[in-house]
Amino acid sequence: PLVSMNEFLPKAKEKKFAVGQFNMNNLEFAQAIMEAAMELKSPFIYGVSEGALKYMGMEYTVAMAEAAAKKSGLPIALHLDHGSSFEVAMACIRAGFSSVMFDGSHHPYEENIAMTKEIVKAAHAMGVSVEGELGTIGGVEDDISVDEADAALAKPDEAIRFWEETGVDALAIAVGTAHGMYAGEPSIRFDIIEEVTSKIPVPVVLHGGSGVPDDMIRRAIAAGVGKINVNTENQVACTETIREVLNKDAKVYDPRKYLGPAKKAMVEVVKSKIVLFGSNNQA
Ligand code: G3H
Ligand code: ZN
Repeated sequence: PLVSMNEFLPKAKEKKFAVGQFNMNNLEFAQAIMEAAMELKSPFIYGVSEGALKYMGMEYTVAMAEAAAKKSGLPIALHLDHGSSFEVAMACIRAGFSSVMFDGSHHPYEENIAMTKEIVKAAHAMGVSVEGELGTIGGVEDDISVDEADAALAKPDEAIRFWEETGVDALAIAVGTAHGMYAGEPSIRFDIIEEVTSKIPVPVVLHGGSGVPDDMIRRAIAAGVGKINVNTENQVACTETIREVLNKDAKVYDPRKYLGPAKKAMVEVVKSKIVLFGSNNQA
């Protein structure tokens, strides 16, 4: 069965590794992520954005994640990514999600706390883990677009009080990463990660994990990041592979002929992330 993130996040924080949240966009993503994790005996999180949920449909989304958990025997969490309301979070939990993120970061601080608290109360009563967000992460993901100029770093004292009041199981804070690929290199505030994680018992979540140089990922984990989200890198690997296959052969019509290689490319991406995050052999 699908598990809450509390099945592996406390261990990740203690042993200083990070569990990957790999976003699911279709069947090939679901299979590629599971195959990579199975090979490396790693726990993982299927992230599903509201846009991806609309695209795949609730029933298929839950069914694919449950099939992966059954086939692999791995601890897998099915997690709503950047949930925008209490209603969406509850709909996901009712349908079988084992974890939800409530992203109240564009609401005023006190409102974000109050809304997150409500979701934590309901989710925890059902054994479902919750991720909250503070500060705004730049870049574009689905329908959520934040100008770099408006991206505001999280303040450590606010992050600590946010955890104390909400009791979230993982806390996403804006520390300089952004959704999508980077033009240059991100500049990550490792000091903020360290200050926050040293004062709360749960790990910090790093969003916008695609395109972050490996050494920065290692430093972020050492500072207290216990969950890292990756979506764009898999999307790029998938699409580039398909483009390559189609460009090479104009006569291809069987979708398996390009989706198969695309899936393979995603397996490689996910495997490299799992090893980088140190979650291999932690299942
Ligand atoms: O919530 C999802 C992630 O933060 C994905 O970010 O697409 O830059 O890897 P990414
Ligand atoms: Zn994100």
